[in-house]
Amino acid sequence: MQATPFDTNNLLDSVTTVLVVIDNSLRIVYANHAGQALFATGTKQLYGHSIADFFVPNTINKARLRAAFRSGQDFTENEVKLYFRDNRVVSADLTVTNLNTDDGPRLLFEVKKVDQQKRISRENQQHAQHFAARELIRGLAHEIKNPLGGIRGAAQLLEKALSTPDEKEFTQLIIEQSDRLRNLVDRLLGPNSLPRLEWCNLHRPLEKIRSLMKADTTQAIAITRDYDPSIPNVKVDPDMLQQAVLNIVRNAVQALRDSKTPNPQIRLVTRIERQLTIHGQRHSLAAQIKIIDNGPGIPGDIRDTLFYPLVTSKDTGSGLGLSIAQTLVNHHDGKIEVDSRPGHTEFIISLPIDRKESQS
Ligand SMILES: Nc1ncnc2c1ncn2[C@@H]1O[C@H](COP(=O)(O)OP(=O)(O)OP(=O)(O)O)[C@@H](O)[C@H]1O
Ligand SMILES: [Mg+2]
Repeated sequence: MQATPFDTNNLLDSVTTVLVVIDNSLRIVYANHAGQALFATGTKQLYGHSIADFFVPNTINKARLRAAFRSGQDFTENEVKLYFRDNRVVSADLTVTNLNTDDGPRLLFEVKKVDQQKRISRENQQHAQHFAARELIRGLAHEIKNPLGGIRGAAQLLEKALSTPDEKEFTQLIIEQSDRLRNLVDRLLGPNSLPRLEWCNLHRPLEKIRSLMKADTTQAIAITRDYDPSIPNVKVDPDMLQQAVLNIVRNAVQALRDSKTPNPQIRLVTRIERQLTIHGQRHSLAAQIKIIDNGPGIPGDIRDTLFYPLVTSKDTGSGLGLSIAQTLVNHHDGKIEVDSRPGHTEFIISLPIDRKESQS
C-alpha cells in the first residue's frame, strides 16, 4: 500500500529554525512563524521592509549581503550578535544561502539561536583553553629564563677579558638583548603572587584609575562613571583589581586615540547581578564592573583569541594586557566577558560576592 504524500504546506511554520528570505534590494519577502517571533512582529510589518531596518546600524553588513548576491557565494557565521532596534540582543548561528527563484535571486537566512546552556559550556571551554595556553607559555618562559641567565653572565665575564670599546660593544649588545628578553619573559610569566584579599569598596580602585587616566591622557577622552552606590564591599586585592581594570581602560584609550573617534568616551559602570554563573558555578550575588568605550570595536580576526597571551593588533603591542587582566580576575574566582561592535565595546568583570561572608 502506498503512503499518502505528506502535505508540506505548513512544514516551514512548524520548524523552530528561523527562516527569512530577502530580495536583492535586501527587503524581506518571507518569514516563517519562528522568523516572525524573532522579529517580534507580523508579516505585515516585515514584508517589503529592508532587513537592516529592524536592527541597530552596523548589525547587518549590507555590503556583505550585496556581495553574496553578486557572487552567489553562501556563508555561515557562528555566534553572531543580533542587536534589534527594540534593544533585544540575540546570539545566533547564521547560514545564508542563495536561492534562484522565478522572481529573481533571493537570499535565505537560517538563524539558530545559541542558547544559554551552550554559551556557558563554551565559556567553560574558553576558560580551559586559556588555562592550557597560559600553562604552556609559563613552561616555555621558565625554560628560556634559565639559560638566559647563563648567557648574560657569560657575556659579562667575556667583557672583562676584552680590552677595546669596539669589542665590548658586542658583549654589551648580548647583555642588552638578554635583559630585553628577560623582561618579556617576566611579563609572560605574569603576576605570580597570591592576592592579598581585603574588604574593599570597588569604587575606590575605580576612582584611582579615573584620576590616573585624567592625568595620563593628553587627549580629551571623557571618562564618566555610573556607579551603583548600593554595591556591598567585596573581598578583593585592590591593587590586582586596579591593574586588571587599568589594562582594559588603557586598551580603550589606545583604541579611541588610534581610531581618532570623535567625542571619545569611556564609561565605568558598576552593577549588582543576581544568579550569575561563573566558570560553571552559580552565584546568587555578583558585583560587575563594566568598562565601555565608543571606539571602533575589537578587530574580528582576534576576537576568539583575545585573551590569549601575545595576541595583539598593534605594531608595538605585546598582547599581554588582557591575558594579565584575566589571570588577575581568575585569582578572584571571577570572569571577564566582552561584547564588541563598532561604536560600543564593553568589557565586563564579574566578581562573586559570598553572601555568608559579605560585609557592607
Ligand atoms: N577597547 C578596545 N577596542 C578595540 N580593540 C581592543 C580593545 N581592547 C582590546 N582590543 C584589542 O585586543 C588586543 C589585545 O589587547 P591586549 O591588552 O591583550 O594587548 P595589547 O594592548 O595589544 O598589548 P599590551 O597591552 O601588552 O601593551 C589589542 O591589540 C586590540 O586589538
Ligand atoms: Mg593592552
